Amino acid sequence: MLRKRLVILISGRGSNMAALVRACRDQAWPADVVGVVASRPGSAGAAWAREQGLPVIELDHRAYPDRAAFDAALIAAIDPLKPDWVVLAGFMRVLTPVFVAHYADRLINIHPSLLPAFPGVTTHRQVLAAGVRVHGATVHMVVNEVDSGRILAQAVVPVRDGDDETTLGERVLRAEHRLYPMVIGWLVHDRMRVRGGEPAWRDPADAAPRWLWCDE
Ligand code: GRF
Repeated sequence: MLRKRLVILISGRGSNMAALVRACRDQAWPADVVGVVASRPGSAGAAWAREQGLPVIELDHRAYPDRAAFDAALIAAIDPLKPDWVVLAGFMRVLTPVFVAHYADRLINIHPSLLPAFPGVTTHRQVLAAGVRVHGATVHMVVNEVDSGRILAQAVVPVRDGDDETTLGERVLRAEHRLYPMVIGWLVHDRMRVRGGEPAWRDPADAAPRWLWCDE
């Protein structure tokens, strides 16, 4: 089987990227992280990736006149890496329809809420203000509308009395670090595929639960 090629896009801390890199290595996935692209210079995530010996490309979005120009530069950086999947991990840029179409069925994101509830940023604050009792994270295909696209899997965490944005955010992040490798692991092992934006198990007998309960 040909090894799968993953390109991970980050902007900052890169903890989800690190979770994927570790899972790929420690679980001996038939896959390689062939590049990390960072949209801000000097990010902690890019430094960590370099320490791991991964190829890192830094593209400062502020150096481009508009989104179209930045996305064209992104495509020019990513395409030579021949990715099977382009994995967004805390990539804080809205992508243009041209970019989204270019990587159709190969572009995946993780969002820190149970979509379609709580899109956007500051999800933990929104959750606490709303008083809901469960929160979580969603891995989904990327489409033009932000925080939409077919849901591949979700992780559910409890909201505890006394939680603040920090404690709740840390619980969600721990869940993300389990959820994202679970889903990308299905893809690199050819258990799940995505066609026309729709995920499907290659062998329905192999279907796994597409949600996790994470109470850590
Ligand atoms: C995560 O919460 C992710 O869901 C969101 O941005 C955050 C990135 O964190 N899209 P990190 O850079 O992966 O540590």
